[in-house]
Amino acid sequence: MAIDNDKLQEFLGKFVSDLGATAAAASVVIGHNLGLYKALAGKPATAEELANRTHTTPRYVAEWLRGQAAGGYIDYDPASDSYSMSEEQAFVLTDPDGPVYAPGAFILALGALKAEPRITEAFRTGNGLGWHEQDNDVFIGSEKFFRNSYIANLVPSWIPSLTGAEDKLRAGATVADVGCGLGASTILLAQEYPNSRFTGSDYHNGSIDLARKRAGDTGVADRVSFEVAAASAFSGADYDLVATFDCLHDMGDPLGTARHVREVLKPDGTWLVVEPAAANDTAGNMNPIGRVYYSFSTLLCVPNALSQPGGYALGAQAGEPAIRQLATDAGFTRFRRAAETPFNIVYEVRP
Ligand SMILES: C[S@@+](CC[C@H](N)C(=O)[O-])C[C@H]1O[C@@H](n2cnc3c(N)ncnc32)[C@H](O)[C@@H]1O
Repeated sequence: MAIDNDKLQEFLGKFVSDLGATAAAASVVIGHNLGLYKALAGKPATAEELANRTHTTPRYVAEWLRGQAAGGYIDYDPASDSYSMSEEQAFVLTDPDGPVYAPGAFILALGALKAEPRITEAFRTGNGLGWHEQDNDVFIGSEKFFRNSYIANLVPSWIPSLTGAEDKLRAGATVADVGCGLGASTILLAQEYPNSRFTGSDYHNGSIDLARKRAGDTGVADRVSFEVAAASAFSGADYDLVATFDCLHDMGDPLGTARHVREVLKPDGTWLVVEPAAANDTAGNMNPIGRVYYSFSTLLCVPNALSQPGGYALGAQAGEPAIRQLATDAGFTRFRRAAETPFNIVYEVRP
């Protein structure tokens, strides 16, 4: 079969660009760790100047700057041999609390990649790999990856998209945040709705330890408590709102979770399900976001589900039909797509 040279060149170009992005992932995290992006934003600098500003070594910083500029993450001015950042680059790379923070996603990626030898082996054995067995950067990076989207959307649009939920939260509601990880969503809700009471739960005790610390640091510990619990057995009853943020598809027994949520919700309560954005079928996910999620799913979500009893491994691109089926199988009667962003779909599920 003859090779089409144009197609070959196009694919080689894609491979080189992907290789550069993969190798540059560590540089993005280095930029985050050392404050290099922040120090450059709004203040163009030579390598020497940026090294002075950040108490780092000029030779390392020079190489970092060149690589960053070659990748389009910063700009280079050959006349002055100096570097700068556009408003757009700074928007994406310098604000950990902004609507998007790319370095956080790269922390997650580098952490997830550390599982590769074990995942390679798992392909052969079919064994799972639990979330708790992942590198620490998976927990930290995962929070950084998702939290920005919660900051931008949870209070401004997702809660208002649910029938009657915002009024209940303002007046004083009982809320469970299940599979809460480091509690980013729990804490954001607690900050906005001080009359409500929140219980965050996750099966991973290391994440719960960090969640408790964060709740203390942000001054919401009076209205938030955290517990180590599987999603199918978290404590409490008569909840107005139960939320699962980007975790239902990770579970080996999401149906057991759905049934438990139904049992502990008030009759007029709401289950808020936030899941990664996905099309209804595999073909619809053949795009860059699908690639991001399928790649994380191979390293994190599917192995975690396979490590737990239950028989499910939905994966991060499960799509609406699979989530709707779970809700129906658990006895919920009302299911609605309430909101969405390029990265998330928000479902409102009610008894
Ligand atoms: C992708 S993280 C999302 C964490 C958090 N909800 C967030 O949005 O930042 C998935 C979380 O699900 C938790 N998890 C996985 N299986 C679980 C289970 N069966 N019961 C409770 N938590 C589980 C993991 O420990 C992890 O914290």
